[in-house]
Amino acid sequence: MPHVFVSRELPGPAFQRLVENHDTTIWPERMPPPYDELRRQAATADGLLTMLTERVDAELIEASPNLKVISNYAVGFDNVDVAAAAARGIPIGHTPDVLTDATADLTWALLLTAARRIPEAQTWARSGEWETWGPDDFLGADVHGATLGVIGFGRIGRAVARRAEGFGMAVLSVGRPDHRDAAAELDNLLEQSDFVTLHTPLTAQTRHLIDAAALTKMKSTAILINTARGPIVDQLALADALATGQIAGAALDVTDPEPLPSDNALWHAPNLVIVPHIGSATVTARAKMTEIAVENLLAGLAGEPLPHQVPVPAPAQAD
Ligand code: GLV
Ligand code: GLV
Repeated sequence: MPHVFVSRELPGPAFQRLVENHDTTIWPERMPPPYDELRRQAATADGLLTMLTERVDAELIEASPNLKVISNYAVGFDNVDVAAAAARGIPIGHTPDVLTDATADLTWALLLTAARRIPEAQTWARSGEWETWGPDDFLGADVHGATLGVIGFGRIGRAVARRAEGFGMAVLSVGRPDHRDAAAELDNLLEQSDFVTLHTPLTAQTRHLIDAAALTKMKSTAILINTARGPIVDQLALADALATGQIAGAALDVTDPEPLPSDNALWHAPNLVIVPHIGSATVTARAKMTEIAVENLLAGLAGEPLPHQVPVPAPAQAD
């Protein structure tokens, strides 16, 4: 019977079925397995079911002779070395679609929270300083009628844009900001948008897509939202832009690294909301992610095409 290593206990009934019917080792702790432990487990595994907290790199893949499938419990797969897996013919599974709406909802929660200064207002309300109503207390930004800029127009970006209709917003989008031809489109979006929200995968091309130069193009009243991947934003530049009032605020579900170290400059930045990577954290989304991750894993072990397989990259070419 094939042996599977699962790097955390997962919510939802599909997990029980996996454990009952297959030879599984489940990492029992809350903290992820350290890299060396993951490598040790992978060395004898036929299948891996991993989270975005695990680095599945070329070295690990090469040192795992039996490995037939890597099932990642996420839509993103920047934690897996896709080229190294492809070189060994190992398919990678991910969990798109089932977390699209949950992540789009969280994006809106962050957008509204930042626009209306909810954390500040709540802290004040609870602090004992709430003595009266003030005509200019906690003035925020209008969401209705504003312009939303969506960078990355895949499943999640489109779901975020659909929700903007209810707020009567104008929507600008850039589908593939890493394409050479997209530079002018991206500049226009950054200059025109009141809210800029990121929904691209993390790749070599999107790393620090939002850098000091990009932040300079944004309105001083604009708010940046990131529910994609932390390294898409140059955080030092963001901390600076918030401190100097270059932009009005930001809301992050993702940081670089995660967790954000206690001495990181962002903790001192004004008008910043941070939550700990909870885009897909709803009961139903996480249960469905488990279902799909298990289906991907079992298909890979059986040598069948994965229901949700990460596209195999084209071989690298000079350009
Ligand atoms: C979460 O960030 C995911 O990629 O599913
Ligand atoms: C990205 O994978 C998305 O679903 O938008």
